[in-house]
Amino acid sequence: MKAIILAGGIGTRLWPLSRTNFPKQFIKLKNMDKSFFQLTFERCLNLTTVETIFIVTTSRYKFLILNQIKEIGYCLNEKQILIEPTGKNTLPAICYGVKEIRKLGEDIIAVFPSDHLINNLQEFTRSINQGKQLTDKYIITYGVKPYKPDTGYGYIKPKASLITGYQVDEFIEKPDLQAALDYINKGYFWNSGIFMFRSDIFMEEVRQCNQEVYEAFEAGDINKVYQMTPSISVDKGIMEKSRRVAVIPLDIKWNDLGSFDNFYEEFIGDGEDNIGFGQEIAIDAQDNLLYADRDKVVALIGVDNLIVIDQENALLICKKNHSHRVREIVKKLSESH
Ligand code: GDD
Ligand code: MG
Repeated sequence: MKAIILAGGIGTRLWPLSRTNFPKQFIKLKNMDKSFFQLTFERCLNLTTVETIFIVTTSRYKFLILNQIKEIGYCLNEKQILIEPTGKNTLPAICYGVKEIRKLGEDIIAVFPSDHLINNLQEFTRSINQGKQLTDKYIITYGVKPYKPDTGYGYIKPKASLITGYQVDEFIEKPDLQAALDYINKGYFWNSGIFMFRSDIFMEEVRQCNQEVYEAFEAGDINKVYQMTPSISVDKGIMEKSRRVAVIPLDIKWNDLGSFDNFYEEFIGDGEDNIGFGQEIAIDAQDNLLYADRDKVVALIGVDNLIVIDQENALLICKKNHSHRVREIVKKLSESH
């Protein structure tokens, strides 16, 4: 088996913690000694060997990646880091990885996003490996049991049981709130963003579901390919369309930390009034998330449900349950520069 790690996203929903030059996957939170990317890399090592891991990214992050891999004691061959001429979302990124891997022969490939927090590694490894039983027929997604109608995820409707997991009836990427509520009540899974497939079957599905991307990848030269290919996610481009998708439930604690509200849910401890990652003083203040750069003291009096993210050159103050709108700030910032 080979592994592809997707590490080219820019993580706009976590601004100002995540920046274009140093996005979410490479950040080491104050309470963690490794980045999400480093943890992803280590998870892959439980599934396959170091020489079979391929990382797809853009040139902006190449040295960050090499350094972070070195820091955890590994060294990659240049050919294992695939540099996209520009980010065109996850379908072209995966196709690039698959195409390079196919040059070494057809194989089973598992694809991992690099921006997740996962506990229970043993169960994770066991469930991912189960996918191999289905790769002759299906593209496998790994589904997480939802606990809230989060519109930042893909939703998967299971149907008939297979030797492991289920056939997929329907895959809906990032629905609206009403639909998400409905899907939760009907027992849909969240898409974890992790996939497994046989390299030849995946490219056949790209041909069937997305001619434009498929044809772009026929061009050969990677610069030409990226000029031609549309920008599209694997979820919209393949998973929503393919009729040969299966889902294997992942019964683990999983969080994509896609927004500061998700941060709050992940890190709030039992009986804690607020979450802080440094020196906080809270008086009559509850349910706040505080994250300050360096050793800055953050003090709150009489405020509830706030997200306060203080970085050297930017400060975000946002009401809880509004953090999905952080990307609007990033958009405004990029328009004004
Ligand atoms: N190389 C490369 N190039 N990587 C990319 C690109 C790109 O253009 N765009 C995104 N990525 C990487 C990100 O760094 C991340 O590790 C992974 O691909 C997924 O991209 P996100 O942008 O984080 O996707 P998402 O979180 O909005 O949605 C996906 O993940 C959810 C679970 O976390 C979808 O698969 C959803 O269906 C899913 O629920
Ligand atoms: Mg994500």
